[in-house]
Amino acid sequence: MAAFFGMPGNEDLADALAAQTGSEAGAVEIRRFPDAESYVRILAAANEKAFLVCTLARPDEQFVPLVFAARALRTSGANDVTLVAPYLAYLRQDRRFREGEAVTSRTFAELVSLDFDALVTVDPHLHRYASLDEIYTIPAIVVHSAPLVGGWVRDNVKAPLVLGPDEESAQWVEEVARQVGCPWAVFAKERRGDRDVRLTAPALGRYRERTPVLIDDIISSGATMIEAAKLVRAAGMQPPHCIAVHGLFSTGTVERLGAVAKSLVTTDSIPNPRADLKLAPLIAQQLPTGFA
Ligand code: R5P
Repeated sequence: MAAFFGMPGNEDLADALAAQTGSEAGAVEIRRFPDAESYVRILAAANEKAFLVCTLARPDEQFVPLVFAARALRTSGANDVTLVAPYLAYLRQDRRFREGEAVTSRTFAELVSLDFDALVTVDPHLHRYASLDEIYTIPAIVVHSAPLVGGWVRDNVKAPLVLGPDEESAQWVEEVARQVGCPWAVFAKERRGDRDVRLTAPALGRYRERTPVLIDDIISSGATMIEAAKLVRAAGMQPPHCIAVHGLFSTGTVERLGAVAKSLVTTDSIPNPRADLKLAPLIAQQLPTGFA
């Protein structure tokens, strides 16, 4: 029998995955000592196969306790520990742009691969890597959120036009458009700084009667999505629905986007007030068969 253990803030997803797969739900106790070091304890006899659930937004503060928990699971009896990280951090720095920069995607992948036997994640931000196998030495299962996003668009939007705010988003946008059966297009993006992007809109004239739906994998500062929403309006279209797989949402982003979007929705890969698209059934479906 397998068991799912949720790191703090991930208990709901761990419990949902346990329920969906008929597995056990375990718990991890984590607290901070007065000097800010972590106390970690597995609160159940570990099964031979353990899934440790921890989405990796804010990875720097989460990673050390995560490794302690993975090792505690092994010393409690698990001989196979899989990380379920719906949002996988440190994929955006995928090359050295300037002399001396750390290629954090590669180093982070090496660190995760040391303590886990496998990885399950959702729509990782792959830009210059063709697959996670280029940097992870453990098997990675990639769950695609397109059926969930496509279902939301079908249920909520009449005559949609699906738009991606940059060239990389074509991989998600095209699949959602195929599922919905609607046209799609992407913007061109030039990033000038962490919160400064310049976008160029595709030709939108012939789609003016359609309802724009902007889809990206990540919303962080919101700069990309807000700029795209403004260009959609400037092209004479109605305010767009904005959808992201991973709502990282830095402070004030939900409010700023609310001012330009018709609606804002994300998956629950990272808990946030707009996380209406629930991933547990999709993730459960794609776990290796017979794992329990
Ligand atoms: C990067 O290219 C991603 O696909 C997103 O477009 C980006 O991470 C969004 O970041 P922000 O919300 O800060 O513009």
